[in-house]
Amino acid sequence: SIFSITAVLAAYLFGSIPSAVWIGQAFYGIDVREYGSGNAGATNTLRVLGTKAGITVMTLDILKGYTATNLAYFIGLSITGPQDSIQFVNYQLALGITAVMGHLFPVFAGFRGGKGIATLFGMVLAVHFDAALFCVGVFVLVLMVSKYVSLSSILAGFAFPLSIIFVFHSPLRAVVLYGMCICVLILITHQKNIERLLKGKESKINMFKKKTA
Ligand code: G3P
Repeated sequence: SIFSITAVLAAYLFGSIPSAVWIGQAFYGIDVREYGSGNAGATNTLRVLGTKAGITVMTLDILKGYTATNLAYFIGLSITGPQDSIQFVNYQLALGITAVMGHLFPVFAGFRGGKGIATLFGMVLAVHFDAALFCVGVFVLVLMVSKYVSLSSILAGFAFPLSIIFVFHSPLRAVVLYGMCICVLILITHQKNIERLLKGKESKINMFKKKTA
């Protein structure tokens, strides 16, 4: 329907907002993709421009995923009759993933974006709040122990479908299926990080050190 097409397009455009690139350019006069890991994400913004910019980008990228996912309410308007919750969650997940695709391949930044972790988190937040908290727990724990954001992202990503099955016993199979696709997606976007981790060359994060490019 016209509702679905509009929502999918809007989700992609939301995801495409390159907060890391725009904030770097507007307030620091640099493109974060030319420094650090070269990634247009919250982690690399924190690495290159410091905590304030990093947290701002993280917040905006989470919001992109959360908002795009909740465009499902807009599609829901076109459903007549009882709203089936499985169908609704399917819309949510499809829109969330569309936003993540926008983040990975942003139309507003030459299709060179980030790795989608914050945007994915925004989606999980909208779909299953408790699972989102569980993933944050895994992320923070791994980060405190290892200081590797990439490793924390990967393990938090895997924690999502696993927690849906083993902790929350959700009957929503679509969530598990999407969760497993998300794991594959995260492994793909983090290929370089995984190579560096295996070689012991991945950079560790220091939250409290101010850095300028
Ligand atoms: O969210 C991206 C993070 O997992 C890795 O970022 O810049 O260290 O490659 P980066």
